[in-house]
Amino acid sequence: MSKIILTGDRPTGKLHLGHYVGSLRRRVELQNSGEFDKIFVMIADAQALTDNADNPEKIRQNLIEVALDYLSVGIDPAKTTIFVQTQVPELTELAFYYMNLVTVSRVQRNPTVKTEIKMRNFEQSIPVGFFCYPVSQASDITAFDATVVPVGEDQAPMIELTREIVARFNHIYGPTLVEPEILLPDNAACMRLPGTDGKAKMSKSLGNCIYLSDSPKELKKKINSMYTDPEHLTIDSPGHLEGNAPFIYLDAFCRDEHFAKYLPDYANLQELKDHYTRGGLGDGTVKKLLFNILEEELAPIRERRKHYEQNIPEVFEILRKGSEEARAAAAKTLSRVRQAMRIDYFDDADLIAEQAKKYGK
Ligand code: TRP
Repeated sequence: MSKIILTGDRPTGKLHLGHYVGSLRRRVELQNSGEFDKIFVMIADAQALTDNADNPEKIRQNLIEVALDYLSVGIDPAKTTIFVQTQVPELTELAFYYMNLVTVSRVQRNPTVKTEIKMRNFEQSIPVGFFCYPVSQASDITAFDATVVPVGEDQAPMIELTREIVARFNHIYGPTLVEPEILLPDNAACMRLPGTDGKAKMSKSLGNCIYLSDSPKELKKKINSMYTDPEHLTIDSPGHLEGNAPFIYLDAFCRDEHFAKYLPDYANLQELKDHYTRGGLGDGTVKKLLFNILEEELAPIRERRKHYEQNIPEVFEILRKGSEEARAAAAKTLSRVRQAMRIDYFDDADLIAEQAKKYGK
């Protein structure tokens, strides 16, 4: 069986470090591993509209931001099909059939949907389209016969639902769809990178994000204002690591060779942590190290972004080509689905003959 990846993001804002460690960095590694037969990365604008129906301009503006972020982290259109969800209408049709295979109570139990309903004050009136987005996500995945879906852990309930839909579809209509596996980030700090405030995960509405497109100056400012340990009042007092944002970021980003380069008094992160908890190490030193490491990672991303920012029509062309390719792939699956569901009436010689016979012709 082919190994196929599908994943994507809602275009509701620029992508940030949380996206980077949670999925983007991994996607580029997977892309360059050569282990996959096909890789699809989708800008989920239709899904973004399910809770932004009154603000389509936001989605329209952020489409290009997400495309630029993808290209700048190294997602390569020669190896990966980057496409736009609304430009593949086959996905909507699939979703309509899958909706019959899922109960309302099943979606109501979805923890990610539950949290989002609260966050968006949808408790009193949930848009039907929003409520159905987990089902539509199953079409995004199955339309491309994806075997692997690399996403953050908040997406796990969606992949679980997809697997249930696949099992139910194949049980009713015969083996047709491919059951996908989730691929989670492998480092605990990457699973849920906190915001610069050390609290929740990064989120635009909380204003605690470091964006991939931030300038070195913005990066420095954000790192310097990061939440650390409120009890670490003087350099000499023992520090605590729990909830200490710079250390959590170091868990996600730093490698032993960074110490040789930027802070040779320590061999590795453990030594730095030990010194901090013992006392005698200031937050400034830790933050400076973090700045150097992040700057090393972000500088090439920023450079590539600049190149594509100068070539916006080329970026739209990449999306157009990718969407055409994606559409062709989804159309094949849809035709298989219609056949399995036996709604391909006009190509069904048996049906036509059987009906003719019923009427004696
Ligand atoms: N729900 C994902 C997000 O919030 C976006 C998405 C839509 C997606 N369809 C998908 C992710 C299919 C993986 C697979 O970013």
